[in-house]
Parts: sequence; structure tokens; C-alpha cells
Amino acid sequence: MHYKLFETARLGPLHLKNRTVRSATNEHLSTLDGQITPAWVQVQRELAEREVGLIITGHMTVDRSQRADEGQVVLDRRIDHSLLRQAAEEVHRAGGRIVAQISHSGLKGMERVNGCRPKGPDDFTEEELDQLVEQFIDGARICQAAGLDGVQVHHAHGYLLSNFLNPQENHRTDSYGGCLENRFRLPARILAGVRAACGPEFALLVKVDSNGCGDLRALLRLCQGAGVDGIEISGLDFATRAGEKKPFFLHEIMEAREDVEVPLIPVGGVFSRKTAEQVLEAGFPFVSFSRSLICQPDFISRMKENPEAESRCFACNGCYKIYRQRPVRCVQHTQPLKQLEIVFGPYHQKD
Ligand SMILES: Cc1cc2nc3c(=O)[nH]c(=O)nc-3n(C[C@H](O)[C@H](O)[C@H](O)COP(=O)(O)O)c2cc1C
Repeated sequence: MHYKLFETARLGPLHLKNRTVRSATNEHLSTLDGQITPAWVQVQRELAEREVGLIITGHMTVDRSQRADEGQVVLDRRIDHSLLRQAAEEVHRAGGRIVAQISHSGLKGMERVNGCRPKGPDDFTEEELDQLVEQFIDGARICQAAGLDGVQVHHAHGYLLSNFLNPQENHRTDSYGGCLENRFRLPARILAGVRAACGPEFALLVKVDSNGCGDLRALLRLCQGAGVDGIEISGLDFATRAGEKKPFFLHEIMEAREDVEVPLIPVGGVFSRKTAEQVLEAGFPFVSFSRSLICQPDFISRMKENPEAESRCFACNGCYKIYRQRPVRCVQHTQPLKQLEIVFGPYHQKD
């Protein structure tokens, strides 16, 4: 199979205009209490207008009491439905597709923002897990009602579902802990519940770590067995790779993908059209981008116009904290974003 970056493609129920994916990227553009904003909508629209095939929104928490930071959108019944709908409509008008990443912050919940300690796998009663499953399903229903094309359930990067999969962070002795099948029980219930509630025409994706559960091959098969439409693959150490401009986890994924038919989407370290094409040549049908699109939201259209296109991103990881220091999203940007100033307050050096 020889995939081309700028050809139409199918991912589960979705028809995409090309094989590029904007990997979930926290926009940090909510209000202080987690409401989406016109600035958040604008980010999604601009990406679609600039040729991103599939946009995955920044992680939205399904639990208001466990946010990852004060700029993170909360996805519950209080969300501004008209803005969410506007985002879907504007992305569709530009020929794109949009999927919401839904998450629980788990051990990465921010105590300063939430006023309570982060909650990990060991802290949930079985009743609370039942409730959590419903919160994820409800989040997916809200997205579907607003016209979004699907959800990506976040199982990566040390957030709650990643904590459940990780034997070092899940010490439960009941049916949610122990072997990988048990550690996958909560994800399996969420995935089955979302599918049952939203149906086969609503895309169901997951993002997993290549190195978080001890057996990537088995994890991919479990996700496939859960009926997902696509698996994006990152890794727990993605944020430690400043300056690395080559695909992050390709080797590990290639070793693990045998017998996996569901589309796999590597993410990390792709900063040029040539590298994106190498990922496709390695047999992956889609390729994801995050920091290059923070730096240059038009990077996909630049690649479309120019086969030699390279991102201006330094891969410096400054985007992980610059918004707390100056009202910009990339160290190279000079145009201030008012919404960042509103949420993160007067600018001075913070960690
Ligand atoms: C500012 C910022 C915010 C991010 N937010 C999310 C997020 O909300 N959910 C997620 O799964 N990954 C998030 N990521 C990780 C990216 O999706 C991606 O996995 C990682 O940046 C590697 O891809 P890249 O080399 O193309 O940047 C974020 C990355 C950055 C730089």
C-alpha cells in the first residue's frame, strides 16, 4: 500500500480530504472556569481552512473537579453548546472534520486549580468508576449533538486512563487492576458505552502510549477488539524529546502492529513533508502534527504547496509553558492572544 499525504482517505466513518491529523493540543483558551470561547472556535476553524484533514481538539475533561490546568475546556452539560456547534459547522464548511479529545486528568490533575488532590486509579470506588463511565459517554453524546464527527478517548501521557493501563500507577486488586485485560476494563467499558450511545457513524478513536502498559502489541489488539476506528500512538516520554526532529515511536509501533488492521496514527517528531511521507511509506495511513501547527497553523497548506516544506518550529518545547509567561502560544510568536491573558493573568515568569 502506498499512501499519499494529499489524497482523500477514510478513517472509520469519516471521509477526510487528506491524511493529515492535528494531534490533540490543549489550546489553553477556555475561560477560567473551563468554558469554551470564540478564540477556541477560531483555532479549530483556522486549522480546517489551512487544510488539516482531521482536527483532534485539545483534551477536554469530563470531570469539572479534575482539570489539568486553568485553560482546559470542561466537557459537561454546562458547555456552551452553540459555540461547540459553531466550531463543528465552521470546520465542516472548510472541508475538515473535527473530533473532541475526551479525558480525565487522573494523576495529572492540578491541585492549585482544582483545590483538591489529583485522583489516580487507586482512589476510585467501583461506584465512582460507574459514574465516570457515564461522564465519558455523556461527553461523547454532547459532542455528537453539537455536530462533531467523533471523539478520541485519551489513554496516553499519564492522564487517568493511561494511569489505569500502567501497572506502576494502578495498584488495584479488584477486576480493574492486575493483568492488562483487567487494567483495560475501564477503557473497554468507556469505549463500548460511547459506541452504544453514539453509533457506528460517530468516529471512535483512542490515543495510547507506546511505552505505558508494558505490552504495546497486546494493547493494540485490545483497542482493536473494542471496535475503535483508529489508534493514535504517542509515548509517556513525548515531552522529554526537545529538539528531536524525527518520528518518535515508529520503531516500537512497527514491532507491535502485526495482526492489527485498525488504522494506526503515529504522532511526534514530524516537522517536514518529507518526514510525513516517510511515515506513510512505512505503512501508516495517517500522520499527526502538534507543535508544528502551534508554530505555523498553516503548516499543512504549506506542505501541500511545497514538497520541500519544513516547519519553522524549533521543537524547543517552549510551547508547554510560554502561555504562562507571555500571552502567546509559541516562543516565536509576537501577536498577543487576549484570551491567554484573561485566563493566565498578568504575565510574569511562572513554572
Ligand atoms: C502545548 C501542547 C499541548 C498539548 N496538549 C495535548 C492534549 O491536549 N492531548 C494530547 O493527547 N496531547 C497533547 N499534546 C501532545 C501532542 O498531541 C503530541 O503528542 C506531541 O506534541 C508530539 O507531537 P509533535 O512532535 O508533532 O509536537 C500537547 C502538546 C503541546 C506542545
